[in-house]
Amino acid sequence: MSINVANNTKFSAKKVTIDTLKTDCIVVAGFSDGELSDTAKQLSNDSNIAINTLYKQGEFSGKVGQQVTLYQPTKNISKAIILGFGAKDKTSIAEFRKAANSLGKALSNSTLKQTVICLDEIEIPDCTSKVKARICAEAISHGRYQYAQTRSGTKTKSNVSVTYATATPKDANKGLTVGHAIGNGMNVARELGNLPGNICTPSYLASQAKKLGKAHKNLSVKVLSEKQMKELGMGSLLSVSAGSNEPAQLIVMEYTGAAKSQKPHAIVGKGITFDTGGISLKPGAGMDEMKFDMCGAASVFGTVTTLLELQPKINVVAVVAAAENMPGSKATKPGDIVTSMSGQTIEVLNTDAEGRLVLCDALSYVERFKPQSVIDIATLTGACVIALGGHATGLFSNDDEFANELVAAGIKSGDRAWHMPMWDEYQGQLDSNFADIANIGGRPAGSITAACFLSRFTKKYTWAHLDIAGTAWLSGGAKGATGRPVPLLSEYLLSK
Ligand code: BES
Ligand code: MN
Ligand code: ZN
Repeated sequence: MSINVANNTKFSAKKVTIDTLKTDCIVVAGFSDGELSDTAKQLSNDSNIAINTLYKQGEFSGKVGQQVTLYQPTKNISKAIILGFGAKDKTSIAEFRKAANSLGKALSNSTLKQTVICLDEIEIPDCTSKVKARICAEAISHGRYQYAQTRSGTKTKSNVSVTYATATPKDANKGLTVGHAIGNGMNVARELGNLPGNICTPSYLASQAKKLGKAHKNLSVKVLSEKQMKELGMGSLLSVSAGSNEPAQLIVMEYTGAAKSQKPHAIVGKGITFDTGGISLKPGAGMDEMKFDMCGAASVFGTVTTLLELQPKINVVAVVAAAENMPGSKATKPGDIVTSMSGQTIEVLNTDAEGRLVLCDALSYVERFKPQSVIDIATLTGACVIALGGHATGLFSNDDEFANELVAAGIKSGDRAWHMPMWDEYQGQLDSNFADIANIGGRPAGSITAACFLSRFTKKYTWAHLDIAGTAWLSGGAKGATGRPVPLLSEYLLSK
């Protein structure tokens, strides 16, 4: 893995006999109502501390994600984690994922060389060993990420191995590989998102793409300069970088996993490496979080990382429209009119609605690949945060069937999106007296009119827009990029 993210966890699936097992750490399941999984029961019988006692003493209730640790439960096992999965035989996939995420946190700083997880025996309807293994690997990989690049004295995490105990190691190993690759992809997206705007500039993103291209035979990378963008008529994209000393970069990564004749799927990320709002300057409070305004781009890098690791037999074009939105003497002013690559003129009524301005030209650019489908990913509107909060990504599309497919990919991967309307009636809010279209549509339905704006540039292909303004990062004490929607995008692409 590239992009300065450590890969410190190894996964493998094996048949495990508990009587003869010798390990640093074992993870077993406990349920509510005092029920135990078979392995937990056996461990309880072999151990000096009967796990039942923990229920009796109120130390453990079996609630989803709850944990209790036993030290040296037997001579050969140094540590046991009893992990809660709710009512026995009633655990849902969502609950399994929740518990796995809690385990991921517990193993976050673990230095124990080997952990054996005995969770495959939890019965979930329609859920294979492969799916369970995948969920565990993704959660643990995610848990073992740490941001270190700009903090002194951060200790590198030690390499650990995780053994997934199962009767069907072949299937489970497939799940572990996919889960690990998605976890790594999320961690790449998180790292790029977390890096500050003075390091992670458009040129930095371009150099990371080139580095990826050099390291992988079937990833070809091209970066268009401002001069080249000007020649293509990308007046809209360039109007955003006009006020900044950092030149915009249009990054194009082509992953070839199938015959060249096979049409690609395209993903296009908003890469505003810092969004001050431009001349329509944002208020100061919390403005630091606008370093996360390139999380759409980061998710594109993350998804490319996952693809490179798994090598699926598909073709993907991954595009990042990178720019910094700054006020400056050359900056675009409210009321300025720019001409997009499509030929449509745009009245820039608010320079803070810049994401759509960079994306529209990138979306016109991808037409040349004759894509089977196009997904753009963007921290596009505060309005989407108001509508959906942090749980679901906003999903907009010019094709209901495609939208349904993405909703399903979101559910399956635990990285949900909600299909929002994009009816023609909203389009009128973008009327301008002086140009073909205005770049803002007023306060009502702000995330919808932003999608409507993009829809004017995506008529030639099947397209969806993911507004990740609410899901791409967390604020407050846990401030940091989440790596979403890498799981959704990977799930969708891998299903092709
Ligand atoms: N990057 C912001 C959207 C954003 C704001 C994401 C807050 C997450 C949290 C985007 O460029 C923006 O500023 N949008 C404006 C649009 C408005 C001017 C029509 C917004 O949402 O306020
Ligand atoms: Mn903005
Ligand atoms: Zn923005």
